[in-house]
Amino acid sequence: MQTNIEIHSLTHVDLEELSALYNLSYQNYYVSINLSTEQFQGKLKMEDINLDYSVGASIDGKLVGFLLYGIRNYNDVKTAYIGGTGVCPEHRGKKITQQMLDFSFPKLKEQQVKNIFLEVNTKNDFAINAYEACGFEKTRTLNSYKGIPILVVNPLHEIVEFSDLDLITSENFWDIKPTWKNDIQSVKNIIEDCQINGIYEDGILVAYKIINKNNTRIYQFGVHHDYRNRYLASILFSDLKNKEIKMINVDEREISTNDFIQSMGLELYDKQYEMKKEL
Ligand SMILES: CC(C)(COP(=O)(O)OP(=O)(O)OC[C@H]1O[C@@H](n2cnc3c(N)ncnc32)[C@H](O)[C@@H]1OP(=O)(O)O)[C@@H](O)C(=O)NCCC(=O)NCCS
Repeated sequence: MQTNIEIHSLTHVDLEELSALYNLSYQNYYVSINLSTEQFQGKLKMEDINLDYSVGASIDGKLVGFLLYGIRNYNDVKTAYIGGTGVCPEHRGKKITQQMLDFSFPKLKEQQVKNIFLEVNTKNDFAINAYEACGFEKTRTLNSYKGIPILVVNPLHEIVEFSDLDLITSENFWDIKPTWKNDIQSVKNIIEDCQINGIYEDGILVAYKIINKNNTRIYQFGVHHDYRNRYLASILFSDLKNKEIKMINVDEREISTNDFIQSMGLELYDKQYEMKKEL
């Protein structure tokens, strides 16, 4: 039987219908995902998802597929991010994802978007195939950790809250740029849910971490380049003793970060690829 698939923007989508399809699509995913409509809206806000650029696929007026696009300046370049792709199970294998991607590219180009990023589970061959067929390439591998940190040092420094995010400069703290989800702009978008604290020495911020208070997910942490190998990271996590924490999108190439996380006793439970397409 011939099915008429309509590909369209999600500007006028019913958010409850979209979040229901999101949950249905990710029902048997590698990590269980089931968001309430409110949590789904929080995700859209955090990732700067713009429904005007996001794409839907409908059959007989019923939404059967979606492609969520966030838009922001990332590395000072206008960039898009795919915050979710899904097709309801009975319509998979019909290249709906490719149709939605192909529909989106001219509109993004028209808006001077230069790059598109996404993250995909390394075992998700179906999705990786669909993205590669549309020109995406793997750029890096990202580790996901969870567990209860084991405290191995006596905290000699005080951990204090601070709010000036401008103190977190890439020159001082980062080896590699965080992914879209962990980027400082994502944190700013949900700042009321975040706890930001750190350690100071002689008035200088020497270590910091940003955590979501509601689900104890760590978005970022870092130790100033000039203050490393002094157990500051261990001290930084001492206030999370006995709490289950999660960290996703830790770049595999950041050897010392991965070693430190594992030394705290966190378990590597999943891996994702970051993929990129240049428009
Ligand atoms: C990944 C997903 C979006 C692909 O959508 P789709 O429109 O079915 O994609 P395509 O039709 O282009 O098929 C992609 C691959 O899925 C496989 N596939 C084919 N029929 C399928 C079926 N009935 N069920 C599942 N997968 C099927 C094919 O192997 C195909 O690869 P191929 O092009 O090498 O043959 C969809 O499977 C999905 O919603 N999965 C759950 C959510 C998810 O994983 N999202 C991606 C997260 S980044």
